[in-house]
Amino acid sequence: MNRLEFLQTILGTSIIGANKISQYDGRDINSLLQAYQQPVTGQNIGLKTNPIPQLKIGIIGLGNRGKTLIQMLQYMIEQKMATVTALCDLTEVKTATASEMLGQWQIERPRCYFGGEDSWKKVAQQDDVDLLLITTPWRYHAPMCIYGMEQGKHVASEVPIAYSLSDCWNLIATAERTQKHCIMIENCCYNEEELFVLNMIQEGVFGDLTHAEGAYLHDLRAHLLSSDYYQRQWRLEHHRTRNGNFYTTHGLGPISMYLEIGRGDNYTHLTSMSSRELNLSSTAQENDMGKLTIACGDMNTTMIKTALGKTVMLQFDVHTGRPYSRINKVVGTQAVHDGYPSRLYVDKPELEFWGHRWLPQEEYDEYRSRFQHPMISKLKQISQEFKQGHGGMDFVMMYRLVKCLNLGLPLDINVYDGVLWSAITPLSELSVMNKSETVIIPDFTGGEWKTARKLEIMRGQLTN
Ligand SMILES: NC(=O)c1ccc[n+]([C@@H]2O[C@H](COP(=O)([O-])OP(=O)(O)OC[C@H]3O[C@@H](n4cnc5c(N)ncnc54)[C@H](O)[C@@H]3O)[C@@H](O)[C@H]2O)c1
Repeated sequence: MNRLEFLQTILGTSIIGANKISQYDGRDINSLLQAYQQPVTGQNIGLKTNPIPQLKIGIIGLGNRGKTLIQMLQYMIEQKMATVTALCDLTEVKTATASEMLGQWQIERPRCYFGGEDSWKKVAQQDDVDLLLITTPWRYHAPMCIYGMEQGKHVASEVPIAYSLSDCWNLIATAERTQKHCIMIENCCYNEEELFVLNMIQEGVFGDLTHAEGAYLHDLRAHLLSSDYYQRQWRLEHHRTRNGNFYTTHGLGPISMYLEIGRGDNYTHLTSMSSRELNLSSTAQENDMGKLTIACGDMNTTMIKTALGKTVMLQFDVHTGRPYSRINKVVGTQAVHDGYPSRLYVDKPELEFWGHRWLPQEEYDEYRSRFQHPMISKLKQISQEFKQGHGGMDFVMMYRLVKCLNLGLPLDINVYDGVLWSAITPLSELSVMNKSETVIIPDFTGGEWKTARKLEIMRGQLTN
């Protein structure tokens, strides 16, 4: 891929965009980024829509993730909070299996669409669909969301919601024009540990925050190299052609809530660096899969700064054999948390040499029970029946999404959040390409981030 083609992938391929890129002289990447900005107002912050007492859902993409999320809906279907009215995948067998599963919990079977690359549009056009749930490969997320909103549907997309800057802007412009919800369903924001840390931060245990660290460190080699785990190896293709942090949101979603991003603070700029690549290509060779050229370095590290001076370190490595981690570190003037495994340090009023010790287990347990997030207190027991969804967090996420739409309340993650967390991907790629040059992070909220607001995920109403 030459430099021009690379920029087209990162920035988007609209005709106007292509003209701007061709005028790019290779020196000032930030002016090019500025030329891509679209006028947005931030008006969908706190968006409320009409309550939908029984939510009608159309699902597109019934692979690994689609199947899991359908299982998460069982309780909501049985409680008449939701029903699935349409399904779509490329293959008939996947729609038939999903329909069979749903038949155990709802009387009416969903309409099934399959076969064509564009068959999903029929789901978006169907009158009895309120919410499009999108669990397809990455390249479809933004176009499916945009088309769905234009058809008058709320949309919920798997992560990342976009990976080109023009898709980011188009998602926001469409959500603002149609006044529809556009949520990126970032499940790690609903994990018990992250919600416990968030609750402590909100209750003042950490004092003022200065720094956070997050990551997606997950040995995906077996899945990436498998011939049939991801449909047509779509995920490997990204690693063959791009270099940066492709999966920012599992780490950055919870961190953005800790730092109240979009609600009084905002990300302003980043710098990103990728290591050399060794592990995915050598694993392929060792397993007789031939010589693969992989563009993505084994480890990407991205540093992000906020307007109020906080820093974030974000990492991405799915090539190296090692235990899973999202790091989940947060540093405040009065406390520090580090994840994997979860450890807590809370400062004492008197100055002493503290050394190397985290809180002893009993004290940690006391904090853990005192600061359990009310949403977890309410849903923990039921979520344990759905452990196949990452130990229960996927259930909590889907419950909250359905419940908010049932009640017509703003969603926990708005379109600006999802777009910002995802935009770090193309911005990291730009920085990596330009020797870790500082890249300005666009303001996707039209300046609205400056207003301090309560985090929707901390609302009490839904937890009673
Ligand atoms: N949040 C999480 O924890 C989590 C976990 C796994 C996957 N994911 C995300 O879920 C998404 C899907 O990943 P996956 O592992 O299920 O991939 P997959 O390859 O198993 O499934 C993708 C499905 O989409 C279908 N599809 C492809 N193009 C389509 C089209 N044009 N119309 C209709 N269907 C189409 C494929 O046939 C396939 O069944 C990705 O965005 C991934 O990042 C998120």
